[in-house]
Amino acid sequence: MEVTSNKNALTSTVIIPLVKNDELANNLKSLGKNLGLDFDMLQLDFSGEKGEVFKSHFNNGRPGRAVMLGLGDDNVSKNCFKAVKLFVFQNREKLEKSISFDLSYHRSKDLKKLIHALVRGVILGNYNLGLYKTNREQRLFDLTILADGKNLERAAKNSQIVAETQVRVMNLVNASSSNLTPARLGAWAIDSGKQFGFKTSVLSKDQIVKEKLNALLAVNQGSALPPSFIICEYKGKGARRTLGLVGKGVTFDTGGISIKGSKDMHHMKSDMAGAAAVLGIIEVAAKLKLSVNIIAIVPSTENAVDANSVKPGDIIHSHLGKTIEVIDTDAEGRLILADALSYMTSKFKPDVLIDFATLTGSIIATLGYHAAGLFTNNISLEGQLMDSSLTSGEKVWPMPLWSHYDEDLESDVADVKNYSGKPIAGAITAAKFLEVFINGHQNWAHIDIAGTAYKESPMGTQEHATAYGVELILDYIERNLAEDQG
Ligand code: BES
Ligand code: ZN
Ligand code: ZN
Repeated sequence: MEVTSNKNALTSTVIIPLVKNDELANNLKSLGKNLGLDFDMLQLDFSGEKGEVFKSHFNNGRPGRAVMLGLGDDNVSKNCFKAVKLFVFQNREKLEKSISFDLSYHRSKDLKKLIHALVRGVILGNYNLGLYKTNREQRLFDLTILADGKNLERAAKNSQIVAETQVRVMNLVNASSSNLTPARLGAWAIDSGKQFGFKTSVLSKDQIVKEKLNALLAVNQGSALPPSFIICEYKGKGARRTLGLVGKGVTFDTGGISIKGSKDMHHMKSDMAGAAAVLGIIEVAAKLKLSVNIIAIVPSTENAVDANSVKPGDIIHSHLGKTIEVIDTDAEGRLILADALSYMTSKFKPDVLIDFATLTGSIIATLGYHAAGLFTNNISLEGQLMDSSLTSGEKVWPMPLWSHYDEDLESDVADVKNYSGKPIAGAITAAKFLEVFINGHQNWAHIDIAGTAYKESPMGTQEHATAYGVELILDYIERNLAEDQG
């Protein structure tokens, strides 16, 4: 990858993202001149509309092909990411190994964002879903970016670092549950820590028993595989603030005794997308050496059906000490998160606590696949995450934690029950359940990513991983938690 201001470095395939603004006509004029294309025809064929793609061969002394991508006039870097990703995905078989981007028709203040968008667009558009195909082939592209400005090479490298971790996150989520067991997830985190510079400890089943993480153990009862409890700690140089992250790591969710229908059950290999997101975030923070401290905790197990499985009506003595009546064994995510949140807040004192979980079908019924549900007890945190959601394009939408919902979780026999028993407000009551276990932390957010972490897109015929959460939290860290490194 190279960022250069030398026009002669452009290869024969040149992708030219263009904004639909007042300068478009002038830009098309000079573009026409540079490539030997007719301005009037260009203007008829290309208007810069978002999603528009115009391809043309040219010969300006040497032959080449130009691909113009319309970015619209609003949210142009997000549109650039989408357009490049889709174009690379659709053309990845026939594209030459070397591709160029010409950003000379953009204002210099927009360059970093556009570079971030297009570097990520190329890498994620080139993502190969065929993890288990016998003829798996992964092409790699060489990028040349024509742009003039300071520190752009660095920006491009950083974007590559982010995208490469997003690919690793997607691989975790798309992996079959037999390949990605709780132990393998732990091994991944240990390996990532060694490679990129953070500490990982994985508690074994014996240690989990000693720590009294009994809700995790209850969900694990029916599984042939032991649970794991992953604790990662990254210490940034000069950091003053600590972010606590918790991610749901259910490697497969059958529902347990309250078994799910079989039709869509295969999707439940993705029930560890929260875990993958938080491991991805700590990995990128370490790679980029961000000046922030991060503790990431992942409780991991399968939720399996077996004679030993936890049963509806069973009582769990949770890590926090509160007793839980299990009404529905398919509400297992909140059980393992309860222990992880309680462990996090009793052993560490993070300034901010954020959990990610594919927690409820109800959040999909509420927000569809476009936005994750944001539940927080801190209004400033809500604003900060909303801001980051707008810049990153990974949308969150605020949901309530009003005390009216408390009664839905009252149990006659235990301190709390894991399901109201009513098919209403499911995402909210799940969040209210988690709130019981945060030890009164005043700056907590729960992000329900059931609809955003794994979904349909033009990039495949079936639902697949999106690495949702990595961009969102990186933006949040950079704006709110990391010290300025100059
Ligand atoms: N893992 C599921 C939530 C889910 C559903 C994620 C669809 C992605 C797509 C979770 O463990 C679950 O089963 N939740 C139940 C809770 C209910 C039994 C209270 C749900 O949402 O139906
Ligand atoms: Zn479930
Ligand atoms: Zn689940």
